[in-house]
Amino acid sequence: MVQQKYNIKFPVTELHQLAQDEAFFTLTENGKDTIIRFHDYSELYKRPGLYEQLFYQRLKCNSPSKVCDILRRVLKKNKVEMTELRVLDLGAGNGLFGEQLHSGGVARVIGVDISKEAYNACERDRPGIYDAYFVYDLCNMDEKMREELLSWRIDCLSCVAALGFGDIPEKAFANAFNLVSDSGWIAFNIKESFLLDSDTSGFSILIKSLLFSDAMEIHHLERYRHRISIDGRPLFYYAVVGKKMFSIPAHIMDKLDKP
Ligand SMILES: C[S@@+](CC[C@H](N)C(=O)[O-])C[C@H]1O[C@@H](n2cnc3c(N)ncnc32)[C@H](O)[C@@H]1O
Repeated sequence: MVQQKYNIKFPVTELHQLAQDEAFFTLTENGKDTIIRFHDYSELYKRPGLYEQLFYQRLKCNSPSKVCDILRRVLKKNKVEMTELRVLDLGAGNGLFGEQLHSGGVARVIGVDISKEAYNACERDRPGIYDAYFVYDLCNMDEKMREELLSWRIDCLSCVAALGFGDIPEKAFANAFNLVSDSGWIAFNIKESFLLDSDTSGFSILIKSLLFSDAMEIHHLERYRHRISIDGRPLFYYAVVGKKMFSIPAHIMDKLDKP
């Protein structure tokens, strides 16, 4: 497939004042400029290769390979076969992390994403990567979906480049965590600031409580450069791989329901 090359321009002023989810670029197509925000996934995904060109080529994101590599090493240390893993990939997008898992030979990989455009892009660009892909908001999981996902006997949850910043909220992540069988594996990455004491957002509180509670046994925690910002600064994330010991208890889940 010949990869289309897009004409992407980043803004030049006051970049440091933009939060990560406010960043944008100008795309010139047929002489017409369109401003697209980084988190406007429907605009990104509907153009084949634009997401990859923006985040992976220009901004040097390496998280899918990094997190998959750490997961592979942790499993090896624990004498678990990757080929036996049944993974739920939350925030699957157009399938970049699913592709890593697929080439690692996992037994099953199930995608979930809130965006129909993400699913369409995955079918278009990486067909056959997922054994099933649900366009669904796990914040409000009904019993039918819970049973459907449980029927896949998930023993690993992955969530890459999708937590926080207006992406996957804590309730969706917690619901997905609780779908994983006990002793299953959890692999995700998260911006370093979410682990600061000073961050009191619901999301930060949930992740810190998971990291420091008995619900998850941490096997690997690594700070690394997730990508660069549009003005060339490194953006550091933590990659986390752990073993689920038990589900997030009801009294904590109830609190996540409160705004
Ligand atoms: C930056 S992309 C990451 C995609 C993929 N994991 C990767 O590594 O390329 C974030 C994805 O999270 C999805 N997302 C945002 N909010 C979500 C939610 N509440 N539930 C499920 N997916 C969500 C977006 O639609 C988007 O596809």
